[in-house]
Amino acid sequence: SPMPAPRITVVGTGYLGATHAICMAIMGFEVLGADIDPNKIELLRDGRVPFFEPGLPEKLGQALASGRLRFTTDFDEVAHFGDVHFLCVGTPQAAGSGAADLGYVEAAFTTLAARIARRALLVGKSTVPIGTAARLTRMIREISPIGSELELAWNPEFLREGFAVQDTLHPDRLVFGVESEWAESQLRAVYAPILGTGTPLIVADLATSELVKVAANSFLATKISFINAMAEVCEATGADVSLLAQALSLDDRIGRRFLQPGLGFGGGCLPKDIRAFRHRAEELGVGQAVSFLGEVDAINNRRRVRTVDLIRELAGGNLAGVRVAALGAAFKPNSDDVRDAPALDVARLLYLEGAVVTVYDPEANANAHRLYPDLNYAGSMAEAVAQADVVALLTEWEEFRQADPDYLAGLVRQRLIVDGRHALDASDYTSKGWEYRALGHPY
Ligand code: UGA
Repeated sequence: SPMPAPRITVVGTGYLGATHAICMAIMGFEVLGADIDPNKIELLRDGRVPFFEPGLPEKLGQALASGRLRFTTDFDEVAHFGDVHFLCVGTPQAAGSGAADLGYVEAAFTTLAARIARRALLVGKSTVPIGTAARLTRMIREISPIGSELELAWNPEFLREGFAVQDTLHPDRLVFGVESEWAESQLRAVYAPILGTGTPLIVADLATSELVKVAANSFLATKISFINAMAEVCEATGADVSLLAQALSLDDRIGRRFLQPGLGFGGGCLPKDIRAFRHRAEELGVGQAVSFLGEVDAINNRRRVRTVDLIRELAGGNLAGVRVAALGAAFKPNSDDVRDAPALDVARLLYLEGAVVTVYDPEANANAHRLYPDLNYAGSMAEAVAQADVVALLTEWEEFRQADPDYLAGLVRQRLIVDGRHALDASDYTSKGWEYRALGHPY
């Protein structure tokens, strides 16, 4: 007889967990989402997503209306309810080092392991240092009242902010890190609707599945820093990095994606993941193998400094008292996430040199304000740009791409623009009397 559909819990309702819980309910499973933060649970029960993600509020509404999705802060209830428990808590960068802080992950696994009294599978989804799953397996063995009836698997997640729903329902691939056939069969049951559409599956050991995630993010970060390193070379030679990227990308083996030059990568994943990977590789005695990730990080950070240089040069060599309109604060468009955001880092550096910085982001102003209360924040692009000496495009929101250079010219004090994301057509601006600068772009 067919196995009854497993009942699912999702522990941690941040970006990853909330999306996973909602999508699993949409796929037809009974889902219980849990968090230690009662405010998040309150919002989600009310049908409100605690962060900006296109399409997710509608999906939450559908999932709640189906009656298949509930939320709780009670971990006894979670332990009792679930057959398969997904653990989606954060692994931030530890204070004062590049290492990952595993405090939340360990707390989530041990909290559940102590309470689960029937056969169940704990599935880690967080991005963790290699070897964490094996260590957690030993930890839960000691705590669990049911011993080896409680199993552990690792199932890394590759969703991008801004595309969270699509990436969850239609992933490029699934990776199961498992230690038994039973664990594999449980994961196959949970992902049956996605596997049924032909999504490739890699079944691996725990360590490989942990490594897939950090290796993928390291590769993406390296690709971005590669083109940004070429931008540095372009700046010294008068070559044009946009044309270079275009020419490179026509080689299928290189590809077009993650080859956009500009201010570089930020957010809650790529920067911290490459640092944690380096740290872990050192511990494992293979630090040399990934020491290049230190260069990847350094290239990325130099882009922020170079953007400030361009703005200073345009302003005449000194930023004191210069009014800069900072367009964008989020680490990328279609997100309100300002963690390690290149845009805000540039705004901060400008401010430290005495510039009068006014930030406008369509979605991230509130989060940015919490992080940097000393910057000025405008309620619209027009308000930010009004009377500016220099306009700096730092996050390539569609609103900024579509802006009319004539309209902006009517608002500013001087027609000076730095395009930190290669998001604008330079000739659109120069033909309207603007001085245009971009990273790796000749002038
Ligand atoms: C990234 C990965 O792309 C996901 O696959 C992964 O699941 C996720 O991290 C994670 O580990 O959770 P995300 O942080 O949402 O996703 O953002 P990306 O779309 O990867 O962009 C990262 C940064 O790189 C942004 O700041 C973006 O502006 C920058 N970027 C991206 C470039 O500077 N150039 C490019 O060509 C592409």
